[in-house]
Amino acid sequence: DRDEIAALMRSHIAEFPDFPEPGVLFRDITPLLADGAAMRRVIAYWCSILPPDVEYIVGTEARGFVLGAPLAYELGVGFVPVRKAGKLPGSPRSVSYALEYGTATVEIAQGGLPAGARTVIVDDLLATGGTAAATIELVRDFDAELLGASFLIELEGLGGREKLGDLPVDAVWSVP
Ligand code: PRP
Ligand code: ADE
Repeated sequence: DRDEIAALMRSHIAEFPDFPEPGVLFRDITPLLADGAAMRRVIAYWCSILPPDVEYIVGTEARGFVLGAPLAYELGVGFVPVRKAGKLPGSPRSVSYALEYGTATVEIAQGGLPAGARTVIVDDLLATGGTAAATIELVRDFDAELLGASFLIELEGLGGREKLGDLPVDAVWSVP
């Protein structure tokens, strides 16, 4: 259940103060990724709280790939990668944004998401919401049906959720 998952998260997420810049408390998912049994429990729980009618999982490079791919595989639905600028051939859609540290541009491949596709955005972490807001813009550009955004970790203090408008937002583990 949720308490058991919270305990597992506490013991598998490392904290690094002042990385990658002063004032940021970095939450590192590396210990979770290294524990296969813990990953299976987290992915199974996460699948159970996603909208059951989802058709596509959209995940952001790089940590959103490592978590989004097993979610999509487990649910038997498609995975659509959101890549950082300059990686996709053809004519991808692009959106630029600010994140807790620095700026970035994200892209989805040309024809990457069918119109009307029931889609959920996933990522390891919601901080300021810049990455998620940019991804929402991308998904809506394809006229997909965006059902919600779901995160492994939500840093509540950074107000990311407010940046996502009225989209349903969910997290496996929320920390103040
Ligand atoms: C991190 C994290 C989220 C984003 C959250 O990614 O994985 O995608 O920042 O921050 P925000 O809510 O303030 O936008 P990062 O850009 O560091 O890339 P990575 O996954 O390649 O490490
Ligand atoms: N991405 C943005 N803010 C972050 C944080 N505090 N820890 C890990 N990843 C992040």
